Amino acid sequence: MSRSDKVTTRTIIDMKARNDKIVMLTAYDYQTALLEDRAGVEIILVGDSLGMVVLGYENTLPVTIEEMIHHLKAVARARPRALLVGDLPFMSYQASVEDAVRNAGRLLKEGGAEAVKLEGGRRMGKVIRGILDADIPVMGHLGLTPQSVHQFGGYRVQGKDPESADKLIEEASFLDEAGCFSLVLEGIPQQLAERITKSVRIPTIGIGAGLACDGQVLVVNDLLGVLEEFSPKFVKRYAEIGREMTRAFSDFVQDVKNGKFPDGRHSYS
Ligand code: KIV
Repeated sequence: MSRSDKVTTRTIIDMKARNDKIVMLTAYDYQTALLEDRAGVEIILVGDSLGMVVLGYENTLPVTIEEMIHHLKAVARARPRALLVGDLPFMSYQASVEDAVRNAGRLLKEGGAEAVKLEGGRRMGKVIRGILDADIPVMGHLGLTPQSVHQFGGYRVQGKDPESADKLIEEASFLDEAGCFSLVLEGIPQQLAERITKSVRIPTIGIGAGLACDGQVLVVNDLLGVLEEFSPKFVKRYAEIGREMTRAFSDFVQDVKNGKFPDGRHSYS
């Protein structure tokens, strides 16, 4: 593959200036990464949503740095044209700058990531500066940050009142000044996302944050419609893959039970 059109953090920053919408999708495995890359996404995120959609955890908090590295490695083997971003999981960066730098470094060195994402604003200042000092690009993440689910008392839209909206604007500006190359805005009113997008120099990438963001991200399993019972308002289901998978599994079960598989066409003689 020609690497001349490889997406870098510079490409992402320049896209805002050109008013080009940025497309980010999560992936957790090699084949999905290949298909997303062929479809032209600009950023592949191995998000800690891994914990919920792939590993079956109740929330993202149990995800470990080893689990992140394992799935990053699989995605990195697709050698995507897209920029590959790895999420720093809960407690891999909160306790100390040293932890944060070491773990961010592992996502690049062992996992093959090209940038890391972490949640939080001003309180993450020292951590962000430490990671940037190690020449590791950082994507910020504000709003309904899932690692703070217990602090928020559930998955609630953030920034709905003027005071918390102003705080998020200030936090976004902090991340911009601190040197993040982009910023995920999750679960905030679209009007607030628009104000933030206009007020920062770096691109904003929204999820449940309306159309005004410089780009959009979805969790791949949600976009594909894998689980019927999980369909929050902000997710557009571009397929009903779960229904199709269930049909295929049931057909296989029936064929095996009825002695119809394997037939002559699928057997060697
Ligand atoms: O973990 C994740 O998948 C994310 C995206 C939803 C932005 O953080």
